[in-house]
Amino acid sequence: MASQVVELLRPCLALGVTVDATFGGGGHTRALLAADRSARVLGIDRDPDAAAQAAGIRRRFDFRAADFRRLGRVLEKEGIDEIAGALFDLGVSSHQLDVGERGFSYHRSGPLDMRMGPDAPQDAAAVVNGWDRDRLADALLRYGEERHARRIADAVVAARPIHDTAHLARVVADAMPARSRRSGHPARRTFQALRIAVNDELGALAEGLDVALRLLRPGGRLVVISYHSLEDRIVKRRLAAGATGCVCPPDLPVCGCGRSAELRLLTRKALRPDPAEVSANPRSRSARLRAAERTAA
Ligand SMILES: C[S@@+](CC[C@H](N)C(=O)[O-])C[C@H]1O[C@@H](n2cnc3c(N)ncnc32)[C@H](O)[C@@H]1O
Repeated sequence: MASQVVELLRPCLALGVTVDATFGGGGHTRALLAADRSARVLGIDRDPDAAAQAAGIRRRFDFRAADFRRLGRVLEKEGIDEIAGALFDLGVSSHQLDVGERGFSYHRSGPLDMRMGPDAPQDAAAVVNGWDRDRLADALLRYGEERHARRIADAVVAARPIHDTAHLARVVADAMPARSRRSGHPARRTFQALRIAVNDELGALAEGLDVALRLLRPGGRLVVISYHSLEDRIVKRRLAAGATGCVCPPDLPVCGCGRSAELRLLTRKALRPDPAEVSANPRSRSARLRAAERTAA
């Protein structure tokens, strides 16, 4: 959804530094730098592998390997006290999915790792082999919205130890009822759930949004692309809360709450990729984009 990202952030590119909080392969950063010759971008990624992609961009750009939760500290070190724009393109990068050793893909054999960066306190093997059945089932249900969470957790516990992604994918597929194996890969939701748990992705998102919104200057813009309903719900609620102004009862003659909206929503409903983008890049199928602008409040 690079063109929507560029159009939404274009008005603030000349106002100061734009943070690409999920640099990945740098596609969005490159598009932003090309859109405005005065744009300056700070790329951040939790994954130190992203530094190799960042090394190819020389002008008006810096990269820091960090969790976007630490954005405040990263900017402080750079002497930057406000930002003009922030982009969050959540989830895993193509690089992370394509390299089997990272352990994110159910299509490739590799170690059960799934850590986006070295700061994650445990890898997926520790979760799969160490968590008890109820905790595992709860994570599959909560983070993967997996209907067969209990069956899968039982099968995983029975098959331990599991150290390889292909082994785990087989165990999950075998645990699924035959009718559920027809819609998409049977291990998709399990892998999503493990990845979210290993990297505390939802906690990071809630914190990262707060930090970015706090640092955004008036007129500055935030764009977030999420890939599943759990992420999108957090984004939608945070933006709606920021866009809520006075909450006094309508019959009160004067505002007593003193509250005014810190955000103006730029997308009433989430934007979705068009069919051409989905056919060119099937991974974009589930993308939902939301954006907001910081008010002077
Ligand atoms: C979908 S990719 C971004 C792709 C990028 N927009 C591009 O154009 O190539 C998501 C990236 O966000 C990073 N990421 C996820 N959670 C993060 C966090 N809490 N802090 C920093 N980076 C994070 C991942 O490591 C991954 O590289």
